[in-house]
Amino acid sequence: MDREIFNFFTGLVEKASGISYQVGKEYLLESRLRELAISLGYRDLKDFYESIRKNLKPQVLNQIIDTLTTNETYFFRDQHPFETIKKNILPDLFQKRCQEKIVKIWSAACSTGQEPYSISLLILEYFSNYLSNYRVSIYATDISESSLKKAREGIYNQIEVNRGLPVTFLIKYFKQDGGNWRIDERVRNLVKFEFLNLLDVSTKVREKFDLILCRYVLIYFSKDVKNRVFQSLWNILNKGGYFILGATEIPPLNMPDMEKKIFGNTVVYYKS
Ligand SMILES: C[S@@+](CC[C@H](N)C(=O)[O-])C[C@H]1O[C@@H](n2cnc3c(N)ncnc32)[C@H](O)[C@@H]1O
Repeated sequence: MDREIFNFFTGLVEKASGISYQVGKEYLLESRLRELAISLGYRDLKDFYESIRKNLKPQVLNQIIDTLTTNETYFFRDQHPFETIKKNILPDLFQKRCQEKIVKIWSAACSTGQEPYSISLLILEYFSNYLSNYRVSIYATDISESSLKKAREGIYNQIEVNRGLPVTFLIKYFKQDGGNWRIDERVRNLVKFEFLNLLDVSTKVREKFDLILCRYVLIYFSKDVKNRVFQSLWNILNKGGYFILGATEIPPLNMPDMEKKIFGNTVVYYKS
């Protein structure tokens, strides 16, 4: 791809979403953008570039970001963090919040919903006795509108339900819908999906959370953006709350009130 066009699109996306593209990824960027350009009725990528260089509508910018995000996810991704959530984190949170009876969880960068639904499934299966007297909410956000749409629908194909979802959960909490599987209302009702750009956390998110999952998204950001986003998320973690990154990730900043806790193969960051 022409260097000028590459720089234009990478600059645009980095400014709007924090996602930083490295040289060498041109082929991926080019094929995804060309597909978008054609679907929007442009002749080719150059034609698209010439048009939006002069006038870029917010809706088109969203489509560009949507096209360039990597939305890879699956149910109970990496498995062991969800074991830790079930065995260690949720029991501790339900006990700690026994006065106010509110437990708030946030899947920041939830993609197509498998991450927040995995937590919802754990709660329904193992902690349903708390649901009658606790307010339990799972806030799930992403920058990709198309991912959020799929997440809200809660319909997954056979390949998606085969990835990580125990068959007992599939049978109990999903209904067959043609060749697909529709997630049960009870699982869906615990989760609230919303559009949120992680760059805007400090100005847009007013609540505090007991458990924050921010998995496999900071890896796409430059060092500065990573630090800024991590700091803003850490600020809205309640004292006594837990922060979980992707299994291969480490916190970009060392916070004074951050305690590293290890449960089996899972590393979590606890706010002391
Ligand atoms: C690889 S997926 C990870 C999904 C899930 N957390 C998991 O671990 O399975 C990364 C997600 O981050 C989202 N994302 C990228 N930049 C973002 C931003 N600035 N704000 C919010 N979400 C963003 C993408 O749309 C994508 O859905």
